Amino acid sequence: MELLPVKLVAALGRARHLVILTGPGVSAESGVPTLRDASTGLWARFLPEELASPEAFERDPALVWQWYQWRRSVIASARPNPAHVAIAALERLLERVTLITQNVDGLHQQAGSRSVIEFHGNIHRNRCSVEQVIVDIETAGTTKPPKCPNCGARVRPDVVWFGETIPRSALDSATYAASDCDVYLAAGTSALVHPAASLAAEAQAAGAVLIEINSQETAFSEQADYHVRQPAGIALPALLTAIN
Ligand code: APR
Repeated sequence: MELLPVKLVAALGRARHLVILTGPGVSAESGVPTLRDASTGLWARFLPEELASPEAFERDPALVWQWYQWRRSVIASARPNPAHVAIAALERLLERVTLITQNVDGLHQQAGSRSVIEFHGNIHRNRCSVEQVIVDIETAGTTKPPKCPNCGARVRPDVVWFGETIPRSALDSATYAASDCDVYLAAGTSALVHPAASLAAEAQAAGAVLIEINSQETAFSEQADYHVRQPAGIALPALLTAIN
């Protein structure tokens, strides 16, 4: 792989507080499709934005539910990749690491990351669409949203849909961490979806060094001090080795 800039490695190695924001690209090498190529096969005629919204769920609950059941089945066979593993190792190695993920697949936790801010929720959980409380319910084989055992309303995945707000505690913790960090690293995200994408501006205002790991150029690339144009599963282990 291309050599990592010496100054990048030095900044990371002496980080007092590292914030890592991850997006779908970090799970791509685990076989979880990224947002822009999520609609494959059966789902090719839908845009994710048209399935992941409260309006879509209202209009056609069974369709949205089946799409999530399909996504769950894909995620069920996915395993953490070297990017997830390297992030968990960074958490153990550095003084302070805050991991904020937009991914709903739970792969960071599976890789051993202990404290994860789930910015967009977690696809493995369900909640009542009216009471908003977590519902522990068996969903295998269902083709339409089960009913909440308490109030009878539809159950939905505990994820943040387009047009919905970020859970208060996740937003507060992430905003605080971004404004406190001295190194901010965004990996595998297009930097198009807000407010996650706006966290970089908080970090920049706090004087943090901004690093991007992405196989492509993104909306964040110009703002970043360093970019590593490599797959996350190669770049993150290489960074870990370089500072170890
Ligand atoms: N390594 C690094 N980056 C990668 C890799 C990889 N192996 N594969 C893809 N990428 C990059 C792509 O270049 C792209 O910039 O990951 C990014 C994935 O982008 P999208 O799928 O468009 O996702 P993003 O816009 O970042 O999604 C943000 O919004 O809808 C919510 O929760 C959903 O997590 C999603 C979030």
